[in-house]
Amino acid sequence: MKKMLAILASPRTEGNAATMLDIAVGMARQKGCEVTYVDLYQKNIAWCRGCMACKQTRSCVVEDDVKDIERNLKECDLAAVASPTYFANVPAPLKNVFDRLVGAVMDDNGGMIPKPLLSHEQKYLVLVTCSTPPPFDRLGGQSTGTVKAIKEFFHTSGMKRAGTVVFAGTKGKCAVPLGVAKKIEFIMEKI
Ligand SMILES: Cc1cc2nc3c(=O)[nH]c(=O)nc-3n(C[C@H](O)[C@H](O)[C@H](O)COP(=O)(O)O)c2cc1C
Repeated sequence: MKKMLAILASPRTEGNAATMLDIAVGMARQKGCEVTYVDLYQKNIAWCRGCMACKQTRSCVVEDDVKDIERNLKECDLAAVASPTYFANVPAPLKNVFDRLVGAVMDDNGGMIPKPLLSHEQKYLVLVTCSTPPPFDRLGGQSTGTVKAIKEFFHTSGMKRAGTVVFAGTKGKCAVPLGVAKKIEFIMEKI
């Protein structure tokens, strides 16, 4: 059975990012995947101390909920991250998880080019929301900033992108447009 790690990086558990993730999770479950759902805002995750100990241990030396995320990330076939855009980037809790996982996902002890520690057989799905409407979400570097930050983490880890879906112009909208839902379903169908 395939394993999916689903990470909600929004405090709004009934918001648009959450709905997008629910669509992907629903499809995964339909296909028989085992899903681990992580609501980041409900987790006990300390700040990255920048101590760099993880460069030797290949795992953060702080014991908290990030350990479960690390284990699930290493074991998953698909990681889906649903994130709103906060100041043209990911929200702080998600950035912090990326920072806490640096030693677990890349090895840069051997020189200039970091060695990915995860597998290219593993895939990731990027789901992003932002209030800036299209095309200004891209022209103004809003959703693109968020997508870039998520891709940077997974690409450096060695994982392969399954797809990216952006719901731009969320202001005043409490439902995910059909076109956005269809894009998620299309990507999940192929996994
Ligand atoms: C602190 C904060 C910063 C935000 N910064 C941006 C931004 O830089 N660009 C943007 O388009 N939307 C920004 N937004 C709007 C959210 O990305 C948007 O409302 C998103 O859809 C909300 O999350 P949800 O999808 O979980 O409901 C910001 C919202 C908050 C709360």
